[in-house]
This record gives sequence, C-alpha cells and structure tokens, in this order.
Amino acid sequence: MPDLLDSAVKQLRDGHLVAIPTETVYGLAADAKNILAVNQVFAAKGRPSGHPLIVHIANPTLPTMSSFESQNAWQEVLLNWSRDVSPQALALAQAFWPGPLTIILPKAKSVLLEVTGGQETVGVRCPNHPLTQQLLKLFDSALVAPSANRFGRISPTTADHVRDEFPDGSILILDGGACDVGIESTIVDLSRWDSHGAVILRPGAISKAMIDEVLRNLNPGESLQPLKQGDASQPRVSGSLSAHYAPRTKLVLYDPNDVKSMNLTNCSGKRVAWAHFENTINIDFSSSSHLDEIVLPGASHELAKCLYATLRSLDQLSVDIIYFEKIPDSEQWDAVRDRLGRASVGSGA
Ligand code: TXA
Ligand code: MG
Repeated sequence: MPDLLDSAVKQLRDGHLVAIPTETVYGLAADAKNILAVNQVFAAKGRPSGHPLIVHIANPTLPTMSSFESQNAWQEVLLNWSRDVSPQALALAQAFWPGPLTIILPKAKSVLLEVTGGQETVGVRCPNHPLTQQLLKLFDSALVAPSANRFGRISPTTADHVRDEFPDGSILILDGGACDVGIESTIVDLSRWDSHGAVILRPGAISKAMIDEVLRNLNPGESLQPLKQGDASQPRVSGSLSAHYAPRTKLVLYDPNDVKSMNLTNCSGKRVAWAHFENTINIDFSSSSHLDEIVLPGASHELAKCLYATLRSLDQLSVDIIYFEKIPDSEQWDAVRDRLGRASVGSGA
C-alpha cells in the first residue's frame, strides 16, 4: 500500500481526484484548498454547484493524550476551517471523532466558497478508516469528499461500486474493503447554536440520543434546547433532496400490516423482486412472471451496512419492480428509513 498511498498523494497535490474509503461510504476526494480540484469534483459527479462539500481532516490526537490535550488538538485543527470553534463542537469531536459525524460550523475566512456552496458555514468530519487517515496525514492538509457516486445515485460502499460509477479508469481508487457503517455520516448543525441549538440535518449511525447526551453532559443543570431534525426540503443539503440514493428500478415500500393497499394487480406478468424481514407476512406474487426474494437482516446497523449494496444488486436483477418491506418506526431505524424513503422517491427514473 505505501506506493499506492504515495501516488494518491501525488494525484491530490497535482489537483486530481482520488476515491477514498471511509467507514461510512467511499468518497471522491480532492484538495480542499485547490479551487480547480474542487470544481473537478462537481464536474465528475454531475453535481450542481451550490451543494456544499464536507471537509475531511486527519485525526490530530494520540491515544496517549489527556482529555485536555486532545481537546486542544481538535481545537487547533478545527480553527483552520472554522472561525468559531465552540465548546459544543469540541465535545462532539472528542466524543465521536474519528467517526461518522459531520459538524457544521461558521466557516473560517480562508475556506473556499466553492467548498461551502457559497454559504458562511462549513461541514467538517474526521473519518475513521486507517487507509484514509494515513492518506490525510501524508497529504498534510484536508480533503473535500462527497460520496463517490454520480449525483442522485446510490452511494458506493466498495471499491467495485466506485468503478461502476466511474468506469473510464481515470480516477485512482484506494481499495479499503467494504465500508463498516454503510450509510453516510450524521450531519449536525452547530452554526446557529445561539438561536436554534443543535440541529440534525441528516440522520446517521451517530443518533440524536447520542449527540444529546454529550451536549447535556457538557453543561449539566443548564436547560438545552431540544435537538431538532432539520428541514428535509432544505435544498442546500443535497443528501436531503427527496429524490436521492435512487435505483433505476421502481422501488415500492410496502407496509406488511396493510398488504391490501399494495395493489398487486400491478405485478401481473411483471418481473418482481421482494425484499423483506424474516418472519414477515407472506405475499402472493403468483401473478408475476418471475420472483426474486431476499431476506433482510433484522438489526438496523446490519441493514445499514449492506443497504446500498443490496439496492445495487436488486437494481441489477432486471426486474420491473422492487417491493421492499417498510422500515420500523423506532429511532434506531431513523437513518435507514431516511435513505430508503429517498431511494424510493427517486427510483425508476
Ligand atoms: O459519510 C459521509 O459524510 C460521506 C463520506 C465520503 O465522508 N460524504 C458525504 O458527502 O456523504 P456528500 O457530499 O455526498 O454529502 C454531504 C452532505 C450534503 O448533503 C451537503 O449538502 C451537506 O453534507 N453539507 C456539507 N456542508 C454543509 C454546510 N456547510 N451546510 C449544510 N450542509 C452541508
Ligand atoms: Mg452523497
């Protein structure tokens, strides 16, 4: 790997893109300080400008550091990107980084508006993948990295998925194996703390309850604004557009407790795929011309890990319609429910 890491650093220094593994999904990385490289990210993804990119930083802490020393280390690195690193930001960084959390902060003057989509805020994350951490340390600066898929399509969780998205071979791909978490980072907005408190813009593996606990412990006794869910229609957050993460095949989410409303006459003579949890209600697809069936894992983190790979393989079955069992309503399923809902809205296009 050292040779490959050296070539990746060279590519990045020369203003080219490199696909990087993270614990969430693969990213399409470019030098966060190079306008031309940043613009290339938008061009390669087919992503409209104005959708901000997340800045990925190296982990500045060491296991041997005291809590005080590691807070200082986070503060020092964050001050390169944000003009106002609040105690809340430091507490979240210390609790969850490196890890699947993006923190939105007021941007530092030097941060390119191309990175922030013209906004006065910047999203920062320290990813938890050994290969990408090595790369960030060798590169010695930060990388912007949106998910390494074409705009609006399913995020990649393996190097092969990235190759499928960018088949011409022009982008160096660092293969770090299958992503552990499988869906994109939680995004928490701290930039309007005084008026809004912390706002979750995108649910992910770091749950609302986990963030809430850290913020409450910071100032015990002080009343905290309830943690809010952001406005999902906010156009600046591309992951929050209702049509996103979409397979090309029509994806229908159905409620197993209301099978009657499924209108199964739609499947008559059609090729159908059926994704369901174990011990589900049986559905009579006998009018279909062909049926593929898959059983989904019953734990939210397991389904998150294989969700995008499952959507990709369902999409390759050449079926006419995918029926996918509705995700449970509880909070632990928030992130998977969110991604699947968006996948269904944008599907079949
Ligand atoms: O897990 C992840 O976050 C992955 C990996 C590669 O790190 N990255 C990722 O990037 O999902 P992307 O570009 O596909 O999604 C980033 C989301 C977008 O919805 C973007 O609008 C939002 O982060 N975002 C970035 N900066 C922001 C800002 N300043 N204010 C509001 N939203 C922001
Ligand atoms: Mg994305």
